[in-house]
Amino acid sequence: MEFLFAPMEGITFALYRQIHHRMFPGIAEYYTPFIAPDSEGSFKPKYLKELTADRDNGFPVIPQILANNADAFNITAGKLQALGFTEFNLNAGCPSGTVFAKHKGAGMLTDLPSFDAFLDRIFSVSEQKGYRISIKTRMGVHSTQEFPAILELYNRYPLSRLIIHARDRDGQYRSEPDLPGFSEALTKCTYPVAYNGNLFSESDLDRLLSFAPETECIMLGRGIIANPALGRTLSGGEPLQCRELEQFHDALLEGYLQGGLSPAFTVERMKQLWYYMHCMFSDDKKEIKSLLKSKTLPDYRTAAKTLFLSGKFCADNCFRDITH
Ligand SMILES: Cc1cc2nc3c(=O)[nH]c(=O)nc-3n(C[C@H](O)[C@H](O)[C@H](O)COP(=O)(O)O)c2cc1C
Repeated sequence: MEFLFAPMEGITFALYRQIHHRMFPGIAEYYTPFIAPDSEGSFKPKYLKELTADRDNGFPVIPQILANNADAFNITAGKLQALGFTEFNLNAGCPSGTVFAKHKGAGMLTDLPSFDAFLDRIFSVSEQKGYRISIKTRMGVHSTQEFPAILELYNRYPLSRLIIHARDRDGQYRSEPDLPGFSEALTKCTYPVAYNGNLFSESDLDRLLSFAPETECIMLGRGIIANPALGRTLSGGEPLQCRELEQFHDALLEGYLQGGLSPAFTVERMKQLWYYMHCMFSDDKKEIKSLLKSKTLPDYRTAAKTLFLSGKFCADNCFRDITH
């Protein structure tokens, strides 16, 4: 089984990918959170800084583009190709209200003829320029029953990969993934396919494989943020150890500070991770509360150390255990 690291806006950064790859090797590809160019294909300099670091990291990183304007996509892909990237991922899954209202992300699935015209233009340019395009998609807007028609559209183009987040847009991140629908889709694709959605544990993997035994590739999101060793354990390797999580945490914290992020922003960025990582600690309410309340770097460091030393780490926990 091959594992991909999902794009996670506000959670993963180039430094996160670098440290994760170093400490938990084995992920085939890392996807960046979306780059959202304007209609002229211009994007914020912060994206360029991140992508330059990603390019120099020396392992496969695929930039993701959120656009519904073919010129904007093509110009952006051209700029990133000049940086050295050879594959781009189109976001056809973001459910957020503002993105959806602009007919971007999952909003592209509301009007298949326009989406077809968009795909026609981006794939014809990719063929001329020699870069590859993969798509990360939802299975529909209001129902995963919409997927056969969407798939018919994708099957007209030479996708390098289709990543199927097996929910409709209305399901946001909460609905039950449609495993039978995913299994059905697998039989109809001629390009590589990756499964995505609620894969947090070995039992989730067993369940997916009971519906879709031909699955060869899985994209991990919230589950691998909670447990950075998830790819390893799902491959039959050692469970995460508390000490490893602490080392990973400390490397990230020091890395952000050394990279010039202010102590206050560093604390905020680390707190975002704890929304997921705290799931690896049982009965952690007191410690996690003081960690999330900490405003200064010294307070944060003390609170994190207290949690790591609390003895409440449990390698068998996973994202869902505590949040649902
Ligand atoms: C905080 C957050 C940020 C996300 N950012 C992106 C993004 O930039 N691009 C994207 O395609 N999906 C994004 N996603 C969706 C994830 O990549 C993934 O598809 C989703 O979380 C389902 O997988 P999971 O159940 O393994 O988490 C985001 C999800 C979350 C929770």
